Amino acid sequence: MFKFNFEVNDSDSSDNTESPFKKPKVEQKTNSDSENDEKILWYEAEQIKPTKAILKSLDLYELNARELTFENVELRHLIAGFLLEDIKRHSDVDSQDIKKSEESHSDLIAGVYEGGAKIWECTDDLLKYLLQNYEKKHWENKVVLDLGCGSGLLGIYALKCGAKVDFQDYNKDVLEKITIPNVLLNLNETLTDDEKIDQLQKKSNFYAGDWSHFAKLTENFEKYDIILTSETIYNVKNQQKLLDTFRKQLKSDGIVLLAAKSHYFGVGGGLEQFVEFLKCGKDFRSTYLWQADENLKRGIIELKLQ
Ligand SMILES: C[S@@+](CC[C@H](N)C(=O)[O-])C[C@H]1O[C@@H](n2cnc3c(N)ncnc32)[C@H](O)[C@@H]1O
Repeated sequence: MFKFNFEVNDSDSSDNTESPFKKPKVEQKTNSDSENDEKILWYEAEQIKPTKAILKSLDLYELNARELTFENVELRHLIAGFLLEDIKRHSDVDSQDIKKSEESHSDLIAGVYEGGAKIWECTDDLLKYLLQNYEKKHWENKVVLDLGCGSGLLGIYALKCGAKVDFQDYNKDVLEKITIPNVLLNLNETLTDDEKIDQLQKKSNFYAGDWSHFAKLTENFEKYDIILTSETIYNVKNQQKLLDTFRKQLKSDGIVLLAAKSHYFGVGGGLEQFVEFLKCGKDFRSTYLWQADENLKRGIIELKLQ
């Protein structure tokens, strides 16, 4: 059952031990997975520019926000029920990908909707790790990318600590309906509307589309000190694209902090498998930073260019 599940607690985690994803559905009539994959037309990359129009909905977002408190840091995000109702009410073209996944009761439709509308467990893990291991001042003046951002909580945390943060999600409608509203919800409330848009535009960029296209679109832009990424390695067929993106986007002394589950049923990827895959190439060395050995095995690794 598809859930716009914004809770990040243990009961959600155990729900997902069975399978966080339905088998990817691709609307092509072919005989094998590999034929299906070849036929997926991965979305081109584009930059999404927040405009003043989004501020009209800010009061509504405020009324439908929930607060997560991590020690002394508060992060606000849209609540699940609001989002679903809003998308049903406005069946505009822009929210079609999220709508399709809701209608097909699936957390993932390969190449159409890649899971960004809910908050996944490893985001919670990585947030806690960042809080416990990095002082706030570590983020000042850093250039950060929240890759496969979904709700964008990792990037929003870095933004609140003083970093400049770009957000990337496969789906434009996730960025427009979820990520950008969430970033807005976390801006200083005393700012004027113009100042809010100004901050959004000066401190962040938002990119939609497939990783391979994203890397091309941004190849001449400033590289990142830190790439934060949670639950993005589930599909083994996309892992090379993901690694290429890390390699192209990271400063030579930059780091990737990657959080993931040990196994994603139905799609084949998983943390240990990914670490083995990394060893096949020469670009990165990886270190385990944290592991949870609960029902749902998860971990965090650091990647550095070598
Ligand atoms: C399972 S969601 C995780 C969302 C979020 N990081 C979290 O932990 O809550 C996977 C994320 O990776 C992005 N993603 C997956 N495959 C992608 C691809 N081929 N190109 C670009 N983004 C992709 C999705 O858009 C989505 O944001």
